[in-house]
Parts: sequence; structure tokens; C-alpha cells
Amino acid sequence: MENPFRPSFGRTPPQLLDRTDLLGEFAYGLSIRSGVLGLLTIITGARGIGKTVMLNEAEDLAREQGWAVISETSTSGFLARIADSMRVLNDELGAGPPTRRITAFVAAGFGVTTQLPPERQVEFRTLGEQLLRRLNEKKTGLLVTLDEIQDANRDELLQLAAVIQHFVRDGLPIGFVCAGLPSAVSDLLNEGVATFLRRADKIDLHPVHVAEVEDSYISLFSTAGFTLTREIASKAAAATTGYPFLVQLVGYFLWREAEQGAGIVTEAAAGQAISAALQRNIRLVVGPAIAHASRRDMDYLRAMAVDEGVSGTADIARRMEAKLTLAANYRARLIDAGLIESAGHGEVRFSIPGLREHLRSTPPQG
Ligand SMILES: Nc1ncnc2c1ncn2[C@@H]1O[C@H](COP(=O)(O)OP(=O)(O)OP(=O)(O)O)[C@@H](O)[C@H]1O
Ligand SMILES: [Mg+2]
Repeated sequence: MENPFRPSFGRTPPQLLDRTDLLGEFAYGLSIRSGVLGLLTIITGARGIGKTVMLNEAEDLAREQGWAVISETSTSGFLARIADSMRVLNDELGAGPPTRRITAFVAAGFGVTTQLPPERQVEFRTLGEQLLRRLNEKKTGLLVTLDEIQDANRDELLQLAAVIQHFVRDGLPIGFVCAGLPSAVSDLLNEGVATFLRRADKIDLHPVHVAEVEDSYISLFSTAGFTLTREIASKAAAATTGYPFLVQLVGYFLWREAEQGAGIVTEAAAGQAISAALQRNIRLVVGPAIAHASRRDMDYLRAMAVDEGVSGTADIARRMEAKLTLAANYRARLIDAGLIESAGHGEVRFSIPGLREHLRSTPPQG
């Protein structure tokens, strides 16, 4: 049996842990097809927590109901790409050649501009309406997903929101599910960029239960006829701290140990698998996450790493010898970058597992 673990971003894991019923509202929305809560959903959570995987799940649910799906990420030009995908879908559904108008709107460099001039917006809307009416006749609809919305250009998002809101108001079968880092999403909502998204169903993803990780390891290893004791599975699961990306990494390396150890995972082998996984996590997640942090941001993080659990913001400011107001700026930047999160009033904690340990084991650069 091939290694079932997927330590790779955006890849669906062999067992999706601890996410039962989260998309229940959305699935219900698909059956009603318009004007319901779950059809607008925002998924938030730290890096590597499983947001993209949840978008994939939502897309699968929609396809199972015969819906058309447009899946986009928020790099510049997403609005035009969505519009163009709609045009392709519309052409597929409609008999005969595409209308001149739509052809013109593609030829006019639609794929390169980020914002649409007003007349293009009207075309986008008309095109979308036609597509949605066609889908409605077939008793299905259109799901648009947008990943990494923290990176979305505000103007593009505003235009997309306006169009979707228009479809929703007309009772057309449109679903919109997006995902992004928590702080950025709450900023988006507060800025009023997408007012209608305030009414969306919000799913905030957390680490999975360690007990579920343990059970999942036991069941996956036993399907392959491998021997993994409860004790070792429990230790390995604890090492993941329930962080989905680490769940995949640890599982993946344990599996390799089992293959090399004639189907038996010894305690020593498990130790090696865990340390290989933690190292890989540093290289793939922690390293890139702090790559763009400034020297003062790093000072802030190092001042936090002194603590075991949460850190008091006043303590951090004192340790880094900065004024409270200045320290608050670094704090806000680090929260936006998804490196740390608020842990209640005046307290912060790391949002990425392994970051604290990494900071402790690497000296500041001169
Ligand atoms: N519920 C889950 N149970 C087990 N593994 C999971 C679960 N959700 C996600 N994973 C695994 O975790 C890893 C990260 O998932 P994903 O790429 O969806 O995270 P993300 O939140 O989109 O991260 P980023 O913010 O960096 O884009 C993948 O290897 C995936 O297979
Ligand atoms: Mg992702």
C-alpha cells in the first residue's frame, strides 16, 4: 500500500479529521440553491490549518449536486479570471456561438486588467445572470471559491462582492466560499469591503483533536497490516499538537519507518520520524513564514519565545525595550502576517507550531 499521507499544501488528507458537519450549513444551502446562509461562507484559520482542503471539500459537495464550480485564488486579476470562466461555462451551456459582446469583452484584454471599467461590470453582470438562469433551469447552480483572500486587491474584491450580491438579490443560484487568515478577514469585514459577507456563515478552523489523530494513525497503519502500538501512536499524535500539516508530516515519516522496518514501527523509529517531521515543518512552514519579518519583528518574536504559553504584550515591550505604542505596531504586523494571534486582552501567542522552538534554537543574527 502506498503512503497515504499528504504533507503538501492544499492536498486532501487520507482522513479529514475533526471537521464533521462544519460544512453542514453549506450543504443545506446547496439543496435550497438560493438566498440561504450557508451558500456564503468564510473559512478562516492559521497557516496549514486546512483552509484550502475545506474549500476542496465544498467544491466536491457542489459538484456532487451537479453544480458548476469556479475555483480561484486571490492573485491579481482574479475577477477577470472568474468572469472568463463564467463565459466559458455559459458558452458550454448555450447552443450556438457566443455573443459578440462577450467575445469583445474577452478580446479587450480582460485577462490582464485587475479592475473592470463600469461598462465591463455591466457585461459581467449580464453574462453571469444568463449563466445562472441557465443553471437554474437545470436545478443546479454555480459555486465560486476564492482562496487566500487576505491577498486580494480590495477594489477587485469590492467589484466581485457587488456582482455576487446582485445575483443573491435576484434569487439566482450562486454560492461563494472564501478562505483566508483570520485577522485579514476581520479587517476586510470591518473595512466594509464586502458588507454582504458579514452575513456569511463563518467557519474558524482550529487544530484537530490529538485523540482523533491517534485513532487515525492506528486505523491507517492497521489497514496496511503495519504494527503501530497505541503508546507510540499516542506519542506521535502528541508531537503534532493537532496541527493538520504536522499530522500529515508525522504520519508520512512514520509510514516510511514502517516500510523500512518490515511493517513494525519501533519506539526509536518513531522518534526519528517525529524529529524528521518537525525539521521539515521548520523548513516548509516556519522558515518561509519568518523570511520577510523585519529585524524588529524578529525582536518581538524572540521576546515572546521566552515564555512557555501566552505572552503579555507589556512584558514583550519591556523585553524589547520599545514603547508600548511602537510594540503595538509590530504586534499588528505580525498578526497580519499570520505569525501570532491575540490570546485575549493584552496577550498574544504563536500561531505556527514550532516557531517558538525554532526561535529559541537559533541565535539572533548580528
Ligand atoms: N482535517 C484535517 N485532518 C488531517 N489533515 C488535514 C486536515 N486538514 C488539512 N490537513 C492537511 O494539512 C495540510 C495543510 O492543509 P491546507 O493546505 O488546506 O492548509 P491551509 O490552511 O490552506 O494553509 P495555508 O494558509 O498555508 O494555505 C495538508 O497537508 C492537508 O492534507
Ligand atoms: Mg491554503
